[in-house]
Amino acid sequence: MFKPAITGTGVFTPENIITNDELVASFNAYADKMNAENAKAIDAGEMAPLQHSSSEFIFKASGIEQRHVLDKEGVLNPDVMHPQLRQRDDDEPGVMTEMALDACKKALAQAQVDASEIDLVICAASNMERAYPAIAIEIQKELGAGGFAFDMNVACSSATFGIQAAADMVRAGSVRKAIVVNPEICSGHLEWRDRDCHFIFGDVATASVIERSEDAKGAHFEIISTRCATQFSNNIRNNNGFLRRSRPDGVIDRRDMQFMQNGRKVFKEVVPMVSAHMLSHIADEGISADQLSRLWLHQANKSMNDFIGKKVLGRTPEDGEQPNILQDYANTSSAGSIIAFSKFSDDLTPGDYGVICSFGAGYSVGSVLLKRR
Ligand code: COA
Repeated sequence: MFKPAITGTGVFTPENIITNDELVASFNAYADKMNAENAKAIDAGEMAPLQHSSSEFIFKASGIEQRHVLDKEGVLNPDVMHPQLRQRDDDEPGVMTEMALDACKKALAQAQVDASEIDLVICAASNMERAYPAIAIEIQKELGAGGFAFDMNVACSSATFGIQAAADMVRAGSVRKAIVVNPEICSGHLEWRDRDCHFIFGDVATASVIERSEDAKGAHFEIISTRCATQFSNNIRNNNGFLRRSRPDGVIDRRDMQFMQNGRKVFKEVVPMVSAHMLSHIADEGISADQLSRLWLHQANKSMNDFIGKKVLGRTPEDGEQPNILQDYANTSSAGSIIAFSKFSDDLTPGDYGVICSFGAGYSVGSVLLKRR
């Protein structure tokens, strides 16, 4: 058995930023327009008027201040309210591949690994832009990687589940160098016309190179172990899929074709599940909470992370122990914990332990216990 390690990470951040104020101004214009168009039905009590959103609510409820998106104009246009992306020819790289390449190249440069040395590409994300061929195989081709590639989707836990799959293959020797990439176009499945959730997501791509610890060319993180768990829940759900055309109402604009959640229930049920998961994972490795130098948590909600950090460490985390990036990126699904890891891990010293932990729809939880080398 070989010891797997994360030797490089990369983040692609779209240039466009939408602040809470910009988002709320556009939503409120949309709500006013809808209310004016449906004034008769509203007056007759047949329809509830749409209520305004507020920046204060968004920041207080989530900790989010802004988000990066691939397309800002479409999202903010009250007549559109979703991203509008250029239709690509089948012979040019797709949007996910383009984002993925940027993140992969950064991760490979940090690891000092040439793309041709990669023999496994996993594209792990919450949504795939097409059914087939696999996005990962297109990324493999564009990178010039060898071996094989496949897609996997475990919603917000896709990155950690992907890291487990790659780490296990490196450990067993079936692959030597892998890249796990998470291109998340969350703006595509977010319902920007629903004030309960319109502030939640942003777009980004992250990538992690996983190879044998003995092959690492510089400082790196040995993967001590990984742990994945799932438990079915309908509290985060999206019913869009390949059977859409076969439904009696066909492809009409239905609310459940975008992200839906029961946020309060998710909060209440996922926090204890994640805390218990992380604590049992480190305990089984003989590591105590006070040996952890850093927690890189999924980035959905600041209070959620505050609760989890406190429960796992047994005290309020000190500044920097549990870095948040959600104020700048919002929830970027599976990429969130990897952004936090990528931006806030260089300062750890050899021997330090840390845990990456993602959680979300499914429900799903994935943790990766790391040791700085
Ligand atoms: N602006 C102003 N008010 C808003 C609003 C907005 N954008 N959105 C909702 N409200 C209102 C609600 O209508 C509700 O009003 P009411 O009390 O009169 O019914 C009130 O604010 C509270 O709404 P609620 O949805 O209960 O807020 P919350 O404190 O639970 O925060 C979330 C909402 C989504 C931020 C929070 O539940 C959360 O983060 N949950 C976990 C989400 C998660 O991790 N999801 C994983 C996704 S992958």
